[in-house]
Amino acid sequence: MSVLFTPARIGTLELRNRFVRSATNDRMATTDGKVTDDLVDYYGLLARGGIGLIITGHAYVHPLGQGSVRQLGVYDDGMISGLKRIADVVHEFDGRVAAQITHAGRQTQKEIIGETPVAPSAIPYGLQKVMPRELSDAEIETIIDDFAGAAGRVREAGFDAVQLHGAHGYLITQFLSPFSNKRTDGWGLAGRSSGHDQEGRFRFLHEVYRAVREKVGPGFPVFIKLAMKDFVEGGLDIETTISIARRLRKLGIDATETSGGFSNAMENIKRDVLPGKGEAYFRNEAARLKRSVDVPVILVGGLRSLATMEDVVNGGDADFVSLSRPFIREPDLVLKLRSGAREVSCISCSKCSISREPVLKCLALEKESESK
Ligand SMILES: Cc1cc2nc3c(=O)[nH]c(=O)nc-3n(C[C@H](O)[C@H](O)[C@H](O)COP(=O)(O)O)c2cc1C
Repeated sequence: MSVLFTPARIGTLELRNRFVRSATNDRMATTDGKVTDDLVDYYGLLARGGIGLIITGHAYVHPLGQGSVRQLGVYDDGMISGLKRIADVVHEFDGRVAAQITHAGRQTQKEIIGETPVAPSAIPYGLQKVMPRELSDAEIETIIDDFAGAAGRVREAGFDAVQLHGAHGYLITQFLSPFSNKRTDGWGLAGRSSGHDQEGRFRFLHEVYRAVREKVGPGFPVFIKLAMKDFVEGGLDIETTISIARRLRKLGIDATETSGGFSNAMENIKRDVLPGKGEAYFRNEAARLKRSVDVPVILVGGLRSLATMEDVVNGGDADFVSLSRPFIREPDLVLKLRSGAREVSCISCSKCSISREPVLKCLALEKESESK
């Protein structure tokens, strides 16, 4: 049997196979982030498809941390009953589910949150040129509590794990990256620094992890999606992120998923990847991490053939294979691979990602069916 169909663990959580649905913003929540029937149906469809671990789209821990319209939220106790419907439907089909929790920081717009976006430093964000407001000390402490509150809700709703979103330029990465964190206080440069450790910039993530762990308890799996690099001059590099991953492991993190880049850049959602062409584009980073830190590694990014996925796991470069776009096109992909399919049919056009359609779908597939 292929190694991909063998069980494996993330902390205390046993998973039926090595396939992970990487966090994918489903855009199916209500305008204030609550779970809808469509969302429950969609997670049922994914779980029926045999995926080992499903990670929700990034869910915002506070209304000011919302990054896009109809994004899932986890900022209020009133949301627990809706979230429970997702956990229940996934369990009904023997799947396991983690919620990815996030704060967008500067990667949002006034039109979405009704206020000027916040960030570690007042540095505008990429294409949108939004000038954020620098967070005060007290506000940072409050956001740390928001992360803990969100993780507590995730656990109470019956989820199996929580994933911190430490990638794609959202608030956790904004604090980690020297590109976006120019603070001179204890959340930035004034923090003790030794080599690549960057104590000050790590402090926010350290405190978030500590608060989340305290809230959910020692046995509940907490893991992270971590930017291994920023792809910008003066941003995060691999030496720094390996050091961050090592620190997190010492603190007790249960697994690390490797990604990189900002949300508006295409480094983390590369186009035109096909079976045998440009696959597994964060493999080198995952392999470096796997050899440097004794932590379960989840590789995401352009996995398009069974052969590559098996090679990644058999070669010891990662423990789990994580996919996003392919599951939008084929929610039953794992079942197909188990029945003999060798390739993923997603063409990595990324139209699912740039589309503003109210519901997440594969636009390439839609076009193909129309022209038949
Ligand atoms: C429509 C869409 C939404 C996404 N939303 C998220 C998200 O909420 N959180 C996250 O960490 N990554 C998100 N991603 C990135 C994916 O999880 C993944 O890292 C990336 O697409 C590369 O994997 P793939 O080649 O299998 O698509 C999203 C990607 C797409 C296409």
